[in-house]
Amino acid sequence: MKQMLIAGNWKMHKTFTEANNLAKQIAEWVGSNKPKSEVAICPPFPFLYSISQLLNGSKVKLGAQNCHYEPEGAFTGEVSPSMLSSVGCYYVILGHSERRTYFHETDDIINKKILSALQFGLNPIFCIGETLTERQNNQTFAVIEKQIQNGLKNIALNQIPHIVIAYEPVWAIGTGISATVDQIDEAHKFIRNLLVNLFNEAGRDILILYGGSLNSTNANEILKLPEVNGGLIGKSSLDALEFTSIIEFAEKSM
Ligand code: 13P
Repeated sequence: MKQMLIAGNWKMHKTFTEANNLAKQIAEWVGSNKPKSEVAICPPFPFLYSISQLLNGSKVKLGAQNCHYEPEGAFTGEVSPSMLSSVGCYYVILGHSERRTYFHETDDIINKKILSALQFGLNPIFCIGETLTERQNNQTFAVIEKQIQNGLKNIALNQIPHIVIAYEPVWAIGTGISATVDQIDEAHKFIRNLLVNLFNEAGRDILILYGGSLNSTNANEILKLPEVNGGLIGKSSLDALEFTSIIEFAEKSM
């Protein structure tokens, strides 16, 4: 059976009350519907602790959207992986294209963050994906390969099961235009082969999520693809009904 993970990346959305209400609705739905798919939510930093309390006893996993690579120190405004572990985070999104673009995160920085997150017991959701220009210049596979090789440098084989990959073509994020089923199928098969080449059998079990304008209208056909193990969802994770209907499609695609 195909393993599935549906993860919501709330980005910089919601107030404290709204965030807690959304988390509660999702936890209640998961509690009553008991999906086989894993479900995770990644709210903004200030809401993590209260949502972690709220999720206590729920199957819904908590994730953060970023972290620094240092365990502690004079880095005003930053959050360390040990802090995230200490408030109950299980996942941390790293290498998101918005971090790469707006905060100038390089493959090298992302690699340091992944190694540090793993050391502090977090499971990185490692984002990769090409820009529109790179796709138009036929560089998609070269870009993906480089991002994976650099991002996962020096990862020990026993850490591989803790990594999740999210393929998010930059041009499909927040645009309302997802990649086509063929483009997603091709990219995910390429990523799977690459992971098996790099990590042998361990590479077969790494979850590969798709992200980029995934919603309840396109989820059915995308999540059915053989190498798609779920989704990393932005906009459509901000509404409980929309998000949980995507989980229902994940259930049908296992
Ligand atoms: P959208 O679902 O809003 O396109 O965002 C995708 C994303 O960036 C998830 O990390």
